[in-house]
Amino acid sequence: MPPTVAFLSAEMAPFAKTGGLGDVAAALPRYLHRAGHDVRPFLPWYGHLELPAAPRPVPFARDVPVRLGRWDFRFSLFETALPGEDLPVFLVSCPPLFGRREIYSARGDEHLRFALLTRAAVESCQRMGFAPRIFHANDWHTALLPLYLRTHYSWDRLFARTRTVLTLHNLAYQGVFPEWAVADLDLAPHAGLLHQEDLRAGRVSFLKTGLLHADAITAVSGTYAREILTPEHGFGLDGLLRARAGSLHGIANGIDTEIWSPERDALIPARYSAEDLSGKDLCRSHLLQSLGLLPRPKGPVLGMVTRLTAQKGIDLAAAVVPDLLAAADVRLVVLGGGDPGHVEFFRGLQRRFPGKAAFRTGRDEGLAHRIEAGADLFLMPSLFEPCGLNQMYSQRYGTPPVVRRTGGLADTVTHFDRRTGEGTGFVFDHPTAAGLEWALREALECWSDRRAWRRLQANGMAMDFSWERQAGRYAGLYASLS
Ligand code: ADP
Ligand code: GLC
Repeated sequence: MPPTVAFLSAEMAPFAKTGGLGDVAAALPRYLHRAGHDVRPFLPWYGHLELPAAPRPVPFARDVPVRLGRWDFRFSLFETALPGEDLPVFLVSCPPLFGRREIYSARGDEHLRFALLTRAAVESCQRMGFAPRIFHANDWHTALLPLYLRTHYSWDRLFARTRTVLTLHNLAYQGVFPEWAVADLDLAPHAGLLHQEDLRAGRVSFLKTGLLHADAITAVSGTYAREILTPEHGFGLDGLLRARAGSLHGIANGIDTEIWSPERDALIPARYSAEDLSGKDLCRSHLLQSLGLLPRPKGPVLGMVTRLTAQKGIDLAAAVVPDLLAAADVRLVVLGGGDPGHVEFFRGLQRRFPGKAAFRTGRDEGLAHRIEAGADLFLMPSLFEPCGLNQMYSQRYGTPPVVRRTGGLADTVTHFDRRTGEGTGFVFDHPTAAGLEWALREALECWSDRRAWRRLQANGMAMDFSWERQAGRYAGLYASLS
């Protein structure tokens, strides 16, 4: 019998997504479910969720009280399903905390929101009589789960054989709050189990608490799992991670080929495959036309779809791309939101290079797919990248990525060697403008050799990034935690 799993996440596509966490939190439960696991994902019922059908209330989980310090909340549990799937998804409804448009908010109650999600997931399992062998938490939002199980719920025999897994998607976000939040989290009586140095420094960290108490920790790629043991990539957690290195596993994300593959993608104007790329040409001209760019450039169309944050190496792109646009007959298409400085930069680029550069901001799922399909090169010069999904999508779409050798990018892209015909993209080592310039030069040289370029595309399209295998690795980890 495969183990039963309760899966907690702040995001889950297509309901709620700001980045890759949303994609992974939808795909991993789905593939585990197909492999025969009883998986129950828990997600907040945010105010903006568009749901395919009215969710059904779950019996015995209505108006359940949860005390968080001086706060008394009540939540109700609802059940819906992923579109086209018989996998149930459990929505935690608590309007005072989740009934707002944004997934993450700046109203000073983030600690309460995600502590409530975590507590509600456990309380719901109790009310459903569901004894998960594995409680799987993701990122800082649900990282208090192992400690809550060890304290508030240690009396409940339902969880006697339950083990906890914490997956690290991005150490840049840790959920650090002032020390007064400990009372709000209902953890004051258990302060001895929190990170003592942090408390002395007047703060409490959700992620650190998870790292202290989870039975197993995973990072979203093998290279990232090694990198975070170093001060350079550990974001201050490397010491703690080194102490737990025996319980830390690197498992790369997969991609959901039902959503992301050019053969069946309903969001792109024409479908295509490695055998027949003519549809990709159509996607390319459609993309340029729809964004008001000049048609038929001699050089490649460069695409980016990204959160605009320092992590993504936007400053490197900013240092290199304007000169390229000025010097060569190339196009640039960027979809992204986030840092206002970066948004302004790309708006400026669009003004400076009319007909050559287009920028769109805000979330646009359709445009994200059309860029993967219609671009020739995908730019992802990240300073660090725990795993990264876009570089895997782009290989699948015959759009070789230009990446820095870091984290999951190092594990999923190999530099193309024109002599041997091996490789799937362009990989540079140093996070400098010169590094990115070198990689783009390599790409442009290869572009002018059509046979080499076809080979490069074919190599990428043949890569197997399937979730079947990666979900199997999670299943193996679950089974080992007896
Ligand atoms: P991260 O999680 O760090 O943002 P990933 O590469 O793992 O990076 O995942 C990014 C995901 O978010 C991809 O599915 C990408 O298509 C999507 N994405 C990023 N920005 C946008 C946007 N503005 N509109 C639509 N999708 C976006
Ligand atoms: C994070 C990381 C990204 C990873 C995603 C899903 O947002 O930045 O590299 O692919 O989580 O695990």
